[in-house]
Amino acid sequence: MHKTLSRRLMAGLAAAMAVGAGLGLSLGSAAAAYPERPITMIVPFAAGGPTDVIARIVAENMSKTLGQQIIVENVAGAGGTTGSTRAAQAAPDGYTLVMGHMGTHGAAPALYPNLKYDPAKDFAPVGLAAGTPILIVAKKDFPAKDLKEFVAYVKANADKVNQAHAGVGSVSHSTCTLLDAQLGIKPTLVPYGGTGPALNDLVSGQVDFMCDQIVNLVPQIQAGTIKAYAVATPERSPSLPNVPTTKEAGLPDYQVSAWNAIFAPKGTPQDIIAKLNNALVVALDDESTRKRLLDLGGVIADKPGRSPQALNDLVVSEVARWTPVLKGANSK
Ligand code: MLT
Repeated sequence: MHKTLSRRLMAGLAAAMAVGAGLGLSLGSAAAAYPERPITMIVPFAAGGPTDVIARIVAENMSKTLGQQIIVENVAGAGGTTGSTRAAQAAPDGYTLVMGHMGTHGAAPALYPNLKYDPAKDFAPVGLAAGTPILIVAKKDFPAKDLKEFVAYVKANADKVNQAHAGVGSVSHSTCTLLDAQLGIKPTLVPYGGTGPALNDLVSGQVDFMCDQIVNLVPQIQAGTIKAYAVATPERSPSLPNVPTTKEAGLPDYQVSAWNAIFAPKGTPQDIIAKLNNALVVALDDESTRKRLLDLGGVIADKPGRSPQALNDLVVSEVARWTPVLKGANSK
């Protein structure tokens, strides 16, 4: 009995190993050898905008640590949900990533009833790349010298002003939806594939105002080509010491910040996630990478805040935070 059993066991084991050779073993060895070819990082917005800028800065250093190029691919559309859907549906082999953010992985469920991904379930979080305070900005010749005058003007002329954004559910759309709800205004909304192109039209005066992430705005604000009324954080940004906080400028209730983070498709092996996270952590400790992000007003999380688990928790809390806010704002 015993002999037959062990023979059968051995046969079973051999069969399993054959399968393993097809799957388990190769996954283990694939993960060990990862990355063996360039990696695609989807940026779900137009080139030149905040998410693109952050992605390219961290990808450059991560490529060095990983020993393979990270290639940024811009897949704009539907407030970032088009590119995020593509990433969620990609092979979980570590070769497709997405730079998601507060919009694609926080606000989108509230605004897209048929969203093709669940931000908290359909991705393997890699880590937080940068926090991005939100500013209220306007074209250079907007007829208001400070936030108080801006609020008075848009309240009195809501039907005459327009507001740029990067698509429904994007950061610029969600954070300005909150502002518009607080001010009780409904300006004309002008959608773009990202706030990169939106900023070009703000500089040229074709659109009136927008809410946007600081990393997209610092150079233009420093050059004086646009007006910055306030930053929606408790403290001023070290990169824009002359821009008041919303509290200082008379709109204390408008407090909001965004963030950008790297995600892989659900099912991506944990040791590949660990390698990617390590490369991100190394990048965020790298002096020149840090300087480029900090000079643009980016906020870099401390080590515990950069873990995959911390990002997972952030996504869950952001979906819970934004859903009632946006549903409430849209019902007004
Ligand atoms: C961008 O990179 O264009 C932005 O992240 C868009 C947005 O969400 O406002």
